Formats: sequence, C-alpha cells, structure tokens
Amino acid sequence: KTYDIAVIPGDGIGKEVMPEGVRALEAASQLFDFNLNLEYFDFACAEYYQQHGKMLPDDWFEQLEGFDALFFGAVGLPDVVPDHVSLWGSLLQFRRHFDQYVNLRPVKLMPGVASPLAGREPGDVDFLVVRENTEGEYSSIGGKMFEGTERETVIQETVMTRTGVDRILKYAFNLAQDRPEKHLTSATKSNGISITMPYWDERVKAMQSSYPEVDVDSYHIDILTANFVMHPDWFDIVVASNLFGDILSDLGPACTGTIGIAPSANINPEGTFPSLFEPVHGSAPDIAGQGIANPIGQIWSASLMLDHLGERDAAAAVLEAIESTLATGELTPDMGGSATTDSLGSAVVRALSA
Ligand code: NAI
Ligand code: MG
Repeated sequence: KTYDIAVIPGDGIGKEVMPEGVRALEAASQLFDFNLNLEYFDFACAEYYQQHGKMLPDDWFEQLEGFDALFFGAVGLPDVVPDHVSLWGSLLQFRRHFDQYVNLRPVKLMPGVASPLAGREPGDVDFLVVRENTEGEYSSIGGKMFEGTERETVIQETVMTRTGVDRILKYAFNLAQDRPEKHLTSATKSNGISITMPYWDERVKAMQSSYPEVDVDSYHIDILTANFVMHPDWFDIVVASNLFGDILSDLGPACTGTIGIAPSANINPEGTFPSLFEPVHGSAPDIAGQGIANPIGQIWSASLMLDHLGERDAAAAVLEAIESTLATGELTPDMGGSATTDSLGSAVVRALSA
C-alpha cells in the first residue's frame, strides 16, 4: 500500500518540527510495511508571499486535491505578512475548499509532563474535542450601521444548518460509540442563546436515538470550561459548535502542560477531499531558529494522519513511542527540560523501532 502525502512545512518552527514528523512517519512505514510518497510544497509561507505577493499559487486546489492527506507545519511571520493574510490566504482556504468540517483535537496528559492542574495524573485527562469547522458563529453575515454616530450598531449572525449540525454530531457519536467509555458531552448555551443553541440541543437528541449505547450529557459552555479544569476526568468525547469548540480546543491542551504537544486533524470524513493534519501551535517566531521547538505536536499529528489513512496499528505505535519517550524525561524547554527538537525527535524514532 502506498500513500501520497503532501508535505507543507510553512514558516518558523513549522520548518523545524516537520522533519521530526516525517522521520516518525518513515520509521512507521518501515515497521508496518506500507509505502509513503511524500511531495514537498514550498507555498503557504512568508518566503512564497515575498516572491509572489500571495500565499498560494492559483492552482493550489488542483495541485493538492489528489493527495491522500496533507501534512502541515505552521504558517505565519507577522513581520513579513499580516496574520489575517497568512492564515486566510492559506490554511483557511484548505479547510474550506476541502470541506474539512471536523476539527479533531485529542487532549491527553502525558507521563513526565507536569500539568498546571494540581494533582492530576496521566489517565485523568484523556478526551477528544470535536469542533464544527465550517459554520456556526463564524459566519460573515452581518453588518455595521450608523457608523460613527451614537447609534453605531454591529450585527453578526450565527448560521446553523441541519446538514452542518447533523454531520458533526454524527461524526462525534460514531467516535463515542467506538470508545470503551461510549460517553459524549455536548457543549451548549441554550439558556442564553435562545434560537441556535436550542436547535443544537434538539439535533443532539434526535441523533441520540440512533446511538442507544452512547451515554450523552450536555453542559452550558460556561460551566463546561470550569469542569475542564476542575473535573477533566469527566470527559471522553466533547462535541461543540465552531466558537465553543475553538475555545475548548485551546483550553484542553492548556490543561496538559504545553501547547507544543497538541495535535489536530481537519477532516473531510467522506474522503471526497484530502484531510489535513497539523500541530495546534503556530510558527512561534519567538523561538524559531534555536532548534528547541517541541516536535511532539507534529509527531502526534502524524499519528492522527496514520489513523485516518487506516494504519491503526502504526498510529497507535507512534503514540506509544511518544508516551514512553516523554516518560524518560527527554523534554524540550517548554516542558521544563533541555532536550532539543532533534534529540526528542530521535528518541521517539528509537522508541518506535525498539
Ligand atoms: P504560537 O503557537 O506560534 O506561539 C505561542 C507560544 O507558544 C510562543 O511563546 C511559542 O514559543 C510557544 N510554542 C508554540 N509552539 C511551540 C513548540 N512546538 N515548542 C515550544 N514552544 C512552542 O502562537 P502565536 O505566537 O500567537 O503566533 C505566532 C504565529 O503563528 C502568528 O503568525 C500566527 O498567525 C501563527 N499561527 C499559525 C497557526 C497555524 O499555522 N495553524 C496557529 C496559531 C498561530
Ligand atoms: Mg484557536
């Protein structure tokens, strides 16, 4: 079996952690007997922007649509390209045009990494945030009226479609059904947001009838964020609208000690288009060039990609290698150690091959 992977390192530490992600992928391919056809792309970065005045070539869609998956680093160099240009001009185009409506972010406290939540051990924090990635609160419907006067008014509408809500719920219910705990939590705010959120709740109820084995609960987003911190052990699969999911999927990794380990998947579950796998973090210009960026977010994203491609054993082995390596104390500075990007990446590959 051969997988065609588009590799897009991007900017800053994206360029430094990507080689570690690729090394882990290559080691996994040898151990689990599949082939990788990696093709590198130099767009979606500040250098490309400086040369071409835009982040992507006009035919980026045609160049990328045939790949089995996209492996992405991080984009952004604010001194050269404004952040809204670099993000909207690249990553957000991929997510939108490839209809990657699921944003999946595993949250797991790793052995050897100190959690800011006192007394929490690995095993206490182990859940997945499933965020709706295409509609909801992030719409461009609205406007500004009476500008510059006392009556100045701004309006921005939330859009929820039955198709959009049902497809994210279905993905989350399926995930929950496949996990031993079979437990799904829905993020809502139907006490304050009186039209869209009751609709979300209604669709959760409707979907629940098709998944009798899944145990469902629902929390308002305010108390849910509090419970992430106070009772992270209560959660297994957490499904949320675009805005609520955005907040939860940053709060979750924060509870595990460093943003540097957090992975994410932007998935088009039907496989009509390629899905994209990337660390949660950005290009970290403050530490770029020092060789100390934590490569775990990128390597863990490789594991998510392998799982998506159907290489479940390889995916699990990469995740185990990450855990056993961190447990030995091989930690980059963001986790309180003095390992380098290269030494931590090498140690994971050694653990994988052991
Ligand atoms: P950031 O995630 O790049 O950095 C935030 C802080 O976390 C920094 O102090 C950084 O040093 C640290 N950090 C991040 N990843 C790390 C790692 N792997 N190892 C060790 N420390 C790490 O977010 P920031 O500073 O808000 O944005 C920097 C640039 O990245 C901007 O241009 C922004 O637009 C872009 N960005 C891109 C994203 C993407 O490509 N998906 C996501 C977030 C930001
Ligand atoms: Mg965010």
